Amino acid sequence: MRGIVERLDNEGMGVVRVGKRKIHVPFTAPGDVVEVRKWRKRKKALVATDFEVVEPSSMRTEPKCPYFGVCGGCLLQHIPYERQVEFKEEKLSTLLGMDVEVIPSSMIYGHRNRIDVVISTSGIGFRRRGTWWDAVDIKRCPVFGESSGRVLRSLREFIEDHGPSLYEIRKNEGFLRYIVIREGKFTGELMVNLVTLEGSLPEEFPGYFDYATSVYWSVNRTPSDVSYGEIERFWGEEFIRERLDDVTYLIHPNSFFQTNSHQAVNLVRKVAELVDGERALDLYSGVGTFGIYLAKRGFSVEGIEINPFAVEMANRNAELNGVDAVFRVGQDKDVEDLSEYDTVIVDPPRAGLHPKLVRKILKDRPESVVYVSCNPKTLRANLDELLDAYSVEAAVGLDMFPHTPHVETVVKLKLKV
Ligand SMILES: C[S@@+](CC[C@H](N)C(=O)[O-])C[C@H]1O[C@@H](n2cnc3c(N)ncnc32)[C@H](O)[C@@H]1O
Repeated sequence: MRGIVERLDNEGMGVVRVGKRKIHVPFTAPGDVVEVRKWRKRKKALVATDFEVVEPSSMRTEPKCPYFGVCGGCLLQHIPYERQVEFKEEKLSTLLGMDVEVIPSSMIYGHRNRIDVVISTSGIGFRRRGTWWDAVDIKRCPVFGESSGRVLRSLREFIEDHGPSLYEIRKNEGFLRYIVIREGKFTGELMVNLVTLEGSLPEEFPGYFDYATSVYWSVNRTPSDVSYGEIERFWGEEFIRERLDDVTYLIHPNSFFQTNSHQAVNLVRKVAELVDGERALDLYSGVGTFGIYLAKRGFSVEGIEINPFAVEMANRNAELNGVDAVFRVGQDKDVEDLSEYDTVIVDPPRAGLHPKLVRKILKDRPESVVYVSCNPKTLRANLDELLDAYSVEAAVGLDMFPHTPHVETVVKLKLKV
C-alpha cells in the first residue's frame, strides 16, 4: 500500500493515511511517498514493520551517522534540525494546549556525554531498532563524538588479544555485557565502565584505556539487561567531573547526570532565573544538579530524593562546591511543610508528581513552583490540578535530546492572589 507522510506523530514517526487506516512509519519525513508492506499493532496504533521510501521528501537532510535507520538510538537525523525543533514545539502545543518556544541544543552531534554500548555475540554497538536481542555493530557514535571511536577500538583490541567471551542474551551466557562511556564535555575527563557477568578479568584490561581518567569494572550477576552492576574494581580516579558554569559535579558509574551537558547549562540557568525568594526545595534532586547551582547563587537550598546513593553524591557535590545545600533521602508522597519554601522545584520521573504531592502543594501553597518535566502528558495532567491555585507565569521547552522525539519542559507556576 502506498501513501504520503502527512506529519510526524508525537513519537517522531511519519503518519501515512492509506484508505481508512493510519499507519505510523519510523525514519520517514513529511512529504515522503512510502510503500508499506507489513505493519503490526503497537498499543493502539498500527506501526509499519516492512516499508520502503519510494520518493523521498524534499525536506530530508543527510544523516551524519552511518548506522541511522537500523540503530535504536536516533529517530530523526534525516529531519533538518530547525524542523526537529519546530516538531517539538508542535508536540508541546498539542499535548500542553499552550504555545511553548523550544530552545535548540547548541550542538547536535558530539553532544551526548554518555553512551551505553552493548557487547554481544551479535555485535558491539546499540540495540537494533525494534529488538531487545540484536545489536548493530558500530565503530563510533557521532552523537557522543570522537572518543567513542577510540574506546571502541581499544575494547576490540582487548577482545582480540585476550579472547574473553561476549554475552549471549538469550542464554544469559558470556562474560562481557556492556561498556559505558562517559565524558565531561567541559572538563575533557573520560570514564569507561566495563559491565560483565561474574568471571575474571585479565589484569591487562585497564592498560588498554590508559588515556581515560577513570576505568571501572562492574559485575551484573542477574539476567536483567542493564548496563550497571556492583563495582568490582576501578583504576585511576574514582569520579570524573563535569562543569556547568561555575559548578563542578562528580560523576560516578552508578549515578545519573543530565546527558547533554551543553544544554544542561541552559536548563540550570533557566531554573535559576525562575526561582523566587530565598528558600528553595529541590524535590527529586538526584545528584543535586539544580540545588547546588542555586546554592552557588546564594539561595538557601534543601533537596529530597528517594535514591540514597544519589543523595550521597549530592552532598559530596555540595561540599566540593563549598555551598551549604543539604540533601536527604525521602519520598515525594511524604514531604513535610511546603509553605516554608519560597519556591519548590520538582523534576519527577516520567510518571509525573505523586497525587499526594499535588494535594500537598495545593494545601501548603508555596509562592512558586518550578516544574521540570520530561513528559508533557503527565505535566499536563498535573497542571490540570495545580492550576486551581496557580497560574502559569512562564513556560519554555529545551531540546536536551536532538534526533529523538523527546523534549524537556520547564514551567513556572505562581500562586494566584
Ligand atoms: C528526572 S530525575 C531528576 C534528577 C535531577 N533533578 C537532575 O537533574 O539530575 C528524577 C529523580 O527522582 C527520583 N525519584 C524517583 N521517584 C521518587 C520518589 N518517589 N520520591 C523522591 N524522588 C524520587 C529519581 O531517583 C531521580 O533521581
